[in-house]
Amino acid sequence: ALPEDMVPSLLRWYDKSARTLPWRSDPSPYRVWVSEIMLQQTRVAAVIERFETFLRELPDLEALAAAGEGELMKLWEGLGYYSRARNMQKAARSIMERCEGRFPSAFEEILRLPGVGEYTAGAVSSIAFGLPVPAVDGNVLRVVSRLTASDTDIGRPEVKKSVGDAIRKIIPHSRPGDFNQALMDLGAEICLPNGAPLCSRCPLSSFCEGYRRGVAESLPVKTAK
Ligand code: ADE
Repeated sequence: ALPEDMVPSLLRWYDKSARTLPWRSDPSPYRVWVSEIMLQQTRVAAVIERFETFLRELPDLEALAAAGEGELMKLWEGLGYYSRARNMQKAARSIMERCEGRFPSAFEEILRLPGVGEYTAGAVSSIAFGLPVPAVDGNVLRVVSRLTASDTDIGRPEVKKSVGDAIRKIIPHSRPGDFNQALMDLGAEICLPNGAPLCSRCPLSSFCEGYRRGVAESLPVKTAK
């Protein structure tokens, strides 16, 4: 279980230290969705510039749905995994046809879009629609494993679900997107992988069972697949 009293400390840290990312200043569903699809397999630093160009050329669902094959592939150049772009266009066309061009606002509907899995549906639902649902990526798995001093192998399929359940119990309904993104930023900037967490700078060290036991740097357990 995660301690609920860590929430204010985490959000205070986020208010002070959040990374400035282009989709955060205007978290509309389309922008958040595009950013999260790009971030599925590409680092934040590499995504930023590509995101700006993509949004300038294809600023909304209508433009994405109508884009030519060549234009779309050119905008995706260098990002890799081109099926992501094709799935996005498929989703955009389906939203234009079936949802009157309005991005679906329910978690289950978002999850049904091509190219969207549990993580991406959670990220879009919480960041763009303010729904209190978790978004568990690799960073979040590591942060939560350390917070709870869990030595369960994070490669096991049930771990994402149990981490999601733990987050669901404490996620603040006032700021679910900020809470999820704060966990991601904490994992990217403080609770670093490869045995190198910066616990002395962590806003959650006093709530962290891994830190208390002196085992944070040896978590998470992850056996090679
Ligand atoms: N990685 C994937 N999505 C992210 C987000 N919204 N903020 C920070 N890191 C991320």
